[in-house]
Amino acid sequence: MDVEFRAFADKGARYAYLNAQLARILAEAEDWVSALSNASALFMLLMPGLNWAGFYRMKGDHLALGPFQGKPAVARIEVGAGVCGTAVAEGRAQIVEDVHVCCNHIACDAASSSEIVVPVYAGEALWGVIDIDSPLRANFDEEDLAGLRISAEKIGAFMQKCGAV
Ligand code: SME
Repeated sequence: MDVEFRAFADKGARYAYLNAQLARILAEAEDWVSALSNASALFMLLMPGLNWAGFYRMKGDHLALGPFQGKPAVARIEVGAGVCGTAVAEGRAQIVEDVHVCCNHIACDAASSSEIVVPVYAGEALWGVIDIDSPLRANFDEEDLAGLRISAEKIGAFMQKCGAV
């Protein structure tokens, strides 16, 4: 695996590269832990201005911390709690421009300012979420969401294939 940081002219080009590298990672992965560990590293490497990137997975009736890069994070999130739990409760992605004015945010790193959470579906089943934080205000927009939705689709298909649902 040889993925290097690159500068891109726009987010579309960045996510095209990121998702092509993600496809390689998933094709070579031993299992879902190695797949998502490398996916977390890929987000941190290729998306500018991040302080946390990783996964929470559905475990029974709550979200449990999965592979990530960044500061140690809360291990369990109830459905409806925080930005991640809200994404699960509402069944849709969340973009938070400023977590300090968001009423339902769980702080894992006081430096975090904006956040994007994208659900990952393995077929019909909600596997969990991609959670990405930035110390920059409003670091994520609809272009990031479009790019990460493709990442989520690839990861969800991988989870279904390897039976990690
Ligand atoms: N901020 C998240 C909690 C997880 S940390 O960002 C890693 C939330 O509000 O759900």
